[in-house]
Amino acid sequence: MATVLLAGGAGYIGSHTAVELLNAGYEVVIADNFANSSPESVRRVEQITGKKVTLYELDIKDRAGLSEVFHAHQIDAVIHFAGLKAVGESVEKPIMYYRNNIDTTLSLLEVMQEADVKKIIFSSSATVYGETNPVPYTETMPRGVCTNPYGWTKAMMEQIFEDAARADQALSVILLRYFNPIGAHASGRIGEDPQGIPNNLMPYVTQVAVGKRACLTIYGNDYPTPDGTCTRDYIHVVDLAKGHVKAIQYILQNHCMEIINLGTGQPYSVTEIVDTFEKVNGVKINHVYGARRAGDLPACYANADKALEILGWKTELSLEDMCRDAWNWQKQNPNGYQNA
Ligand code: NAD
Ligand code: WQD
Repeated sequence: MATVLLAGGAGYIGSHTAVELLNAGYEVVIADNFANSSPESVRRVEQITGKKVTLYELDIKDRAGLSEVFHAHQIDAVIHFAGLKAVGESVEKPIMYYRNNIDTTLSLLEVMQEADVKKIIFSSSATVYGETNPVPYTETMPRGVCTNPYGWTKAMMEQIFEDAARADQALSVILLRYFNPIGAHASGRIGEDPQGIPNNLMPYVTQVAVGKRACLTIYGNDYPTPDGTCTRDYIHVVDLAKGHVKAIQYILQNHCMEIINLGTGQPYSVTEIVDTFEKVNGVKINHVYGARRAGDLPACYANADKALEILGWKTELSLEDMCRDAWNWQKQNPNGYQNA
């Protein structure tokens, strides 16, 4: 079976993808510098699957170190998760974001070229659709004007991959544009473990539920949406992870340069998330309505047809599953992987 290198594979989406790849019979090698994760997630991936992962503590920007990984293994394909992803922090520290996110990408492409590895899947984001494209977003729409440096790094990296694939006819690339991944593995052993105060909605909700935060502020209830709060395309991280397995199967069999949305196509509002979480889990989420957050769009959701057409993939898990599994993870791990 093929060997897949997960750059940044100890993180939230990478660890869930590792589980699904191992369950599908792939060999998994992870390289991560633990900038936003810990080796504990990889240990738990091994527990869940009963299979071994080869783990390197490595900064992907370190070309020489990365080259050693490619010499030590016959890598058939790479999934590039490694990146910094906090939108607000990217506004404060744009240079750090451009340096880390762009350099990891260049380093991977250079070392892959040396090692003659020709298949790469990249973690892109719905954020590249920008402010002006109408929802639902389809892959044929142009990249838009991003609202923050994090988003620009994704748009720039997409451009880099497109140019690299154009120049090297043997290089296959799939750019996966994720929408809003939430939830956790059903075991509750792996999940999202944000550092400090969560920026994203679901980890904030689960931290209110577990008593770590007093109250959720819902950012704005005067948007032009059915209940006035923003709508998003929330996708269960296990569905997302299975989408990567399909993308690996596809890229190993086809020469390609594809952009593919990974979303459900179904928008839900912030209020619906809070209501569903309360109902499914039987807990109260103390919340207030506050001002709009700068940069938030009223609505963001996918047209998910292409993923079904090309990869034969669509989501299977519901919003109830997402809320239940997010809470199960948080309850079992009130401090994430810390002190595990
Ligand atoms: P995450 O922070 O949990 O995972 C990213 C991993 O990359 C972490 O383990 C981190 O330690 C590692 N990393 C960062 N810089 C590195 C470097 N220089 N060398 C080695 N490892 C490095 O985030 P995630 O939610 O799992 O996201 C994975 C990818 O998907 C990221 O590229 C992110 O931008 C993208 N993405 C995430 C979302 C989301 O909402 N979670 C949405 C769209 C796209
Ligand atoms: C969701 C909704 C908030 C927190 C971000 C990135 C995007 C992608 C996914 C990586 C919004 C509201 C949130 C809170 C709230 N990441 N909210 N109170 O902003 O859709 O997307 O993560 O690529 O690029 O921008 O996700 O989870 O932050 O917010 O009311 O305390 O929840 O206003 O409507 P977002 P989010």
